[in-house]
Amino acid sequence: MTASPKIAVLFICLGNICRSPLAEGIFRQTVMRAGKAEQFQIDSAATGSWHIGNPPDERAIETADYHNIDIGGQRCRRIDKDDFHRFDFIICMDRSNIANVEALRPAGSKAKIELFLQFALGRNQPVPDPYLDMNSSFEEVFQLIENASLGLLTRLTA
Ligand code: 4NP
Repeated sequence: MTASPKIAVLFICLGNICRSPLAEGIFRQTVMRAGKAEQFQIDSAATGSWHIGNPPDERAIETADYHNIDIGGQRCRRIDKDDFHRFDFIICMDRSNIANVEALRPAGSKAKIELFLQFALGRNQPVPDPYLDMNSSFEEVFQLIENASLGLLTRLTA
């Protein structure tokens, strides 16, 4: 018997130091808790190039730590053409991420490009950027992503 192919999920945000690293770490924990880790390949990337090679923002690392999730080993990378063939789902934090990702999509890619909260929870809203938006705290963003990760798992395994 051969193993069934994994569902490959790539989380995208602008900088890949706040929201998408949290989404990668939280969704990984969500699938582990559900006993489904072997069914998924999970990664994250940026549309921008400012932070390539850097670890996540300290506040993102601390917030994840507080919830016993270690994201400190992640390193920022930029989305590349191969990602459009390697990943089944490219899950974006906001609409500008979607526009940036769509602009890079190569011919022949079958990846589904989705807005995270819309796809996971049926809510047509962005995950607010705690790096740029002083009104959104890292803890609030954590809770939102944790909730959406459960919805995403349900959607992808239904
Ligand atoms: P993220 O937040 O997209 O959630 O990682 C940002 C981090 C850095 C920048 C913008 C957004 N930046 O402009 O450096």
